[in-house]
Amino acid sequence: MADIVILTGAGISAESGLGTFRDKDGLWTRFDLSKVATPEGFIENPALVHEFYNARRANAQESSPNAAHFALAEFEKRKSGDVLIVTQNVDDLHERAGSRNVLHMHGQLSQALCAACRATWTAPLVMTPEDRCPDCDAPSTRPDIVWFGEIPYHMEKIEDALSDCRLFAAIGTSGQVWPAAGFVEAARMVGAHCVELNLERSDVSDRFDEVRLGRATDIVPSWISGLV
Ligand code: OAD
Repeated sequence: MADIVILTGAGISAESGLGTFRDKDGLWTRFDLSKVATPEGFIENPALVHEFYNARRANAQESSPNAAHFALAEFEKRKSGDVLIVTQNVDDLHERAGSRNVLHMHGQLSQALCAACRATWTAPLVMTPEDRCPDCDAPSTRPDIVWFGEIPYHMEKIEDALSDCRLFAAIGTSGQVWPAAGFVEAARMVGAHCVELNLERSDVSDRFDEVRLGRATDIVPSWISGLV
């Protein structure tokens, strides 16, 4: 349980040099998501999918957390145990900034998954279709990423936390992908104060009590400093 639930999306990592999905030049304007982010795409062309995530893994490893990630980590420390970060991001910048209470609902680039036995392990920097599962030896390894059409991770814990929170914030997310886009509604239903922090208004801005617009590295530290 956590009093404060913070949902983050690609916008919080944008100023660390990681691309967003739907902005101008975003990943989904350059890549066909049905080919690289669906189970069907992986069956059709695993090498292409590995190439896509290998590049993103390398990019994430070269990047560093920014002032928004650090502000959230500091907030968690001050509020000991009261802050849960639910991230749609597959990078590890929250953890590298010092956050400990983080749920990756869309998986993590740093993990590999066996499609045959569901074992998970630390992903090598470069994954290939020839890799074998260290547990069952099947040549069925894939990035541990939740693709379109798959069920996000940790939903029970997230729903529990939302059902009991008093503050909900969404940072750097366009509100176009469900179920995350619906979290604000769940938080509103229990009377939580809902704040959106984003570069521009999202698809679900009108569901929030407060909308703060600007770059994450500016608006997140200033919002946090007003709270503590
Ligand atoms: P999007 O690319 O859809 O949205 C990013 C949001 O961040 C947009 O609303 C931008 O305006 C905002 N933004 C950009 N730069 C920013 C900055 N410097 N400071 C603050 N905000 C900024 O990314 P997500 O909402 O995270 O899923 O996308 C959700 C999911 O869709 C992803 O997890 C991914 C994607 O398809 C999967 O791959 C399964």
